[in-house]
Amino acid sequence: MKTIGVLTSGGDAPGMNAALRAVVRTGIYNNVRILGIKQGYNGLINGNIEEMNLSSVADIIHRGGTILRTARCEEFATESGIKKAKNVIEIFDIDGLVVLGGDGSFRGAKLLSDNGVPTVGVPCTIDNDMGYTDYTVGFFTAVETVVDAISKIRDTSSSHGRANIVEVMGRRCGDIALYAGFAGGAESIIVPEEGIDIDEVCRKLIQSRNRGKLHSIIALAEGVGNAYEFAKEIEEKTGTETRVTILGHIQRGGVPTAFDRIIASKMGYRAVELLLEGKSGKAIGVKENSIVDMDFEEALSINNEFDSEMYDIAKILSI
Ligand code: F6P
Repeated sequence: MKTIGVLTSGGDAPGMNAALRAVVRTGIYNNVRILGIKQGYNGLINGNIEEMNLSSVADIIHRGGTILRTARCEEFATESGIKKAKNVIEIFDIDGLVVLGGDGSFRGAKLLSDNGVPTVGVPCTIDNDMGYTDYTVGFFTAVETVVDAISKIRDTSSSHGRANIVEVMGRRCGDIALYAGFAGGAESIIVPEEGIDIDEVCRKLIQSRNRGKLHSIIALAEGVGNAYEFAKEIEEKTGTETRVTILGHIQRGGVPTAFDRIIASKMGYRAVELLLEGKSGKAIGVKENSIVDMDFEEALSINNEFDSEMYDIAKILSI
């Protein structure tokens, strides 16, 4: 393997740069030429490609975003998209590819691998919604961001004696709400995996208010329902003024935590190792503190298991 291409795809995640740095440096250490493909699969289709060297990835381990930029590329999922990508791969003499992204990006990576291009994937998404790996790169940084926001919102919640709904990202996965709500001491955590019981939220709110608690934080995962409608219902049922904060894309940026940098670097390193060992079609992950890999097909078929034990503990600790 003489040339490896690397791209970042889908929603960006803090720690993608650390993974990229690991891919580039491990490749160069092994005398492999590394090509950086810009803007995800778009760059692969259009030949937006630049050779990388040791200094291209200097000073990025601590930076959020992705220096290669990213995109969600619909054309890539089509037959003509794959054909164009294969042509570019041939023109640039790319022998193997590392894809840094979430499950949509991995589906693209699998297509390439099925079409004879040696490809491996490193899971990078704040959602932590890939069941085959314990954690994805970016998740814990997003959780830190949300916990920090909850602490700030709790101050004003107490001052005003209000309830505050904090809506977080996660697509169809409640992990950000669960982990951040747990660590931030939220009074209620609402996730798609468990559904919503507004009366239970209101009961808790009234009981804790009667005990003299001034604040009430409700961590709500996106996709469960409309935060403003929930707020209206809570206000009507409890008489407590309720505000909504939708954290949005603030969760996607920022300095990656040490943990995200560490798993990103280990998995980026392993990605190049796997290609050099002649392996293809592999998703890399973290299981019980070890770096593991498995076929894309199997990895993509494993549903994310929601930690209902943690959810139940959170309920008990927030009585
Ligand atoms: O997958 C990451 C994520 O941030 C989700 O949590 C969210 O639903 C989605 O991407 C938002 O996508 P976009 O940045 O394209 O609006």
